[in-house]
Amino acid sequence: MVVVGEEITFGSLGPIVLDKLHDHGANANVFEANKGSNVYAIKIHHARSLIDEIPDTSFTAEVDLKFKGSRLCIPLDTCHVYQNERNKSQIALAFPMLSDHMILDTVLQDRMSYDLTFRQWIAQELVLAVLELHNSGWLHGDLQPRNIMVNKSTGDVKLIDFEWSLPIGHKGGSAETRGVEDWCAPELLQFGIRAHRSGSEVWALARMILQLLGVNGKEEFLRVKKIGVLEYAQKIGASQELYTIEPESSEFAQLFSMLHRGVITNPNDRCKLNEISQLMKFDRPIIKNEISIVQAGKRLNLKETTFSIQLTDTEGNTYRCRSGKTRKHEFNKGHELIEVDLKNMDKPEIIFSGIRSPLGEGYSITINDYTWSIEAIEVFT
Ligand SMILES: Nc1ncnc2c1ncn2[C@@H]1O[C@H](COP(=O)(O)OP(=O)(O)O)[C@@H](O)[C@H]1O
Ligand SMILES: [Mg+2]
Repeated sequence: MVVVGEEITFGSLGPIVLDKLHDHGANANVFEANKGSNVYAIKIHHARSLIDEIPDTSFTAEVDLKFKGSRLCIPLDTCHVYQNERNKSQIALAFPMLSDHMILDTVLQDRMSYDLTFRQWIAQELVLAVLELHNSGWLHGDLQPRNIMVNKSTGDVKLIDFEWSLPIGHKGGSAETRGVEDWCAPELLQFGIRAHRSGSEVWALARMILQLLGVNGKEEFLRVKKIGVLEYAQKIGASQELYTIEPESSEFAQLFSMLHRGVITNPNDRCKLNEISQLMKFDRPIIKNEISIVQAGKRLNLKETTFSIQLTDTEGNTYRCRSGKTRKHEFNKGHELIEVDLKNMDKPEIIFSGIRSPLGEGYSITINDYTWSIEAIEVFT
């Protein structure tokens, strides 16, 4: 078994050390690995027996994906870790680490903690992500909230876990049912993988968006689940919508009647992905920066004879300011301005985002994950 601290050698990325366990899935562990300034998510499948001395890759499509897209998190590199003495091997896949992301499930479990503008953006991103995939001729195969990553500050979406992806129009003969029952369309529950088609993913997608932007969705889904999706469908008729969820905003009336057409039992009666997408023209949410300021331990002491001062920040940048003057400095790649005010020599101040603070060493500003601090101040007379 591959463990933390071990080094794995990929063909093009080279040797990579597993730094810590990040998460675990059903049949794989995901590790975090840092190399230079890159952070990778390394997915390592549990060991499988070699077949005629060759690793078994039959259970995952991820080793050889035929598509790519900006919202699809696909492997950067793949390799095998052999345990020859046990006649086994493990598949290792390196992905870009999606830092500052959460699974969509986190949002669905606590919907009201997230702004509507943020959730509607997630919904739109999700439709675009699935469109990217389907337009390349592929189905995800396991579209559900644990395989969708959401950027915590922007709401941008990436699909992960393409283990079961299938080409559209596949002739997969298996009647096996895969995935999480809650997100399986009726044809998948009834006929298994062989029935998996674009419409099956429209079902999962519509169901997720109904829950994301609707009122009392959870209760309604639970009610149908109790009866059983197939039984309920039989009762109401195959061309009826299985769920009717009320939208959180009246603006979504049209979108919701389309989404309801995505959860009709008969896949041939369902709406198409681009019909949903045409009704989503949401704007990117305004990102709220979380700002916190730590005051300096001691205000800088300036004398009549002070001519100028020089600040050095923790990144080693220096900023000069003349006595009796105010000066604006850019930091954080030019996005933010700090102002040093030396007009009143008894009371030197630093201003950020309208907040005046005493100027001194140790003053620091944190914006989301980024911190800017004053390390040292030199006084020139
Ligand atoms: N690139 C990534 N960046 C960050 N977290 C990831 C990444 N890939 C997977 N994860 C996390 O690991 C979990 C399991 O990965 P996944 O590919 O879905 O494996 P499984 O097939 O076991 O479900 C995901 O639900 C997610 O929380
Ligand atoms: Mg998964």
